[in-house]
Amino acid sequence: MTLVVTGGAGYVGSVCAQHLLDAGQDVVVVDDLSTGHRDAVPDGARLVVGDVAEVADEVLGAGDVDGVIHCAARSLVGESAAEPAKYWHGNVVTTIRLLDALRHHGVPRLVFSSTAATYGEPESSPITEDAPTRPTNTYGATKLAVDHAIGTYAAASGGAFRAVSLRYFNVAGAHAGAGDGAALGERHAVETHLIPLVLQVALGQRDEIAVFGDDWPTADGTCVRDYIHVDDLAEAHLLALDLLAGSDTPEGGHLVCNLGNGTGFSVLEVIEACRRVTGHPIPARVAPRRTGDPGVLVASSARARDELGWKPTHTDLDGIVADAWAFARSLAARSPAARSRA
Ligand code: UFG
Repeated sequence: MTLVVTGGAGYVGSVCAQHLLDAGQDVVVVDDLSTGHRDAVPDGARLVVGDVAEVADEVLGAGDVDGVIHCAARSLVGESAAEPAKYWHGNVVTTIRLLDALRHHGVPRLVFSSTAATYGEPESSPITEDAPTRPTNTYGATKLAVDHAIGTYAAASGGAFRAVSLRYFNVAGAHAGAGDGAALGERHAVETHLIPLVLQVALGQRDEIAVFGDDWPTADGTCVRDYIHVDDLAEAHLLALDLLAGSDTPEGGHLVCNLGNGTGFSVLEVIEACRRVTGHPIPARVAPRRTGDPGVLVASSARARDELGWKPTHTDLDGIVADAWAFARSLAARSPAARSRA
């Protein structure tokens, strides 16, 4: 049987594909390569280049697909405000087309990349899955709409189709390539995430890091986030697939689980960790708050631990940063020609 990873040429998808291959599974990656990289698709996975909505029927119709991890998505919060149609079509319409194809071909399992952005500004911390969902940006709204859609498809299937939505907090770090396997990490054409941006300063690719606000109601005045290592995140996807294959059916056929470490680190703590790991002074400058940023986002991971049996193992911030740093350096060491082909 085959497992399909959409977005498997991207950061999270490629690491999920690698973990599945390491577990001995057959893997097909579906990716339109609009933001992903052909060379991030792990060796051993078959790549189908195309839009998920366009190729889902063909890929799932092959007859031996046993489950899908759906990571392909638009994921830039700022862009989602400026270009909402790109997000409603790319995230919601595309996923509905995928759900229809799953139903049509009788594929029984789906694990969906959802996000902490579905919660918006939390009322209390840590955030549990029962917290109100009031997204403050279009990106989060589209992911929440998909979570709802999946729930209704699962409920209507009478148990034939089951799904887990994993609500990621701040994914970070990199997968270290074993043997001939390539290291897999974050490389976005438009980088907005804190750790890779800070590491760009250490690499001499930017002069300083802007700290978005130092007047938040937190211990040091900067935003607090819950950083989760991408390898721990990928393991949760495999555990979710296992759960869906077993007899322990989630209620209504759909389980929503937060994925975070349950520990928050401030922007200044992250910058300090990057200084320790890289040995670079990393100049930082306080800048205005970024629109739409909540002050504190920390997950309760109790449900993931209880229901999936998930236990994060890379919880040390310096270790997460060290893996991201090793990847950033290996990427920077590649020739410009190699990078432009990627
Ligand atoms: N930050 C800075 N300077 C920068 C970049 C970021 O101070 O140059 C701060 C942000 O204000 C925020 C923190 O660093 O407080 C982390 O920012 P990221 O952009 O790395 O991540 P976000 O917390 O904004 O968003 C991420 C994902 C979302 C997801 C969210 C849930 O990108 O998809 O985590 O926690 F919804």
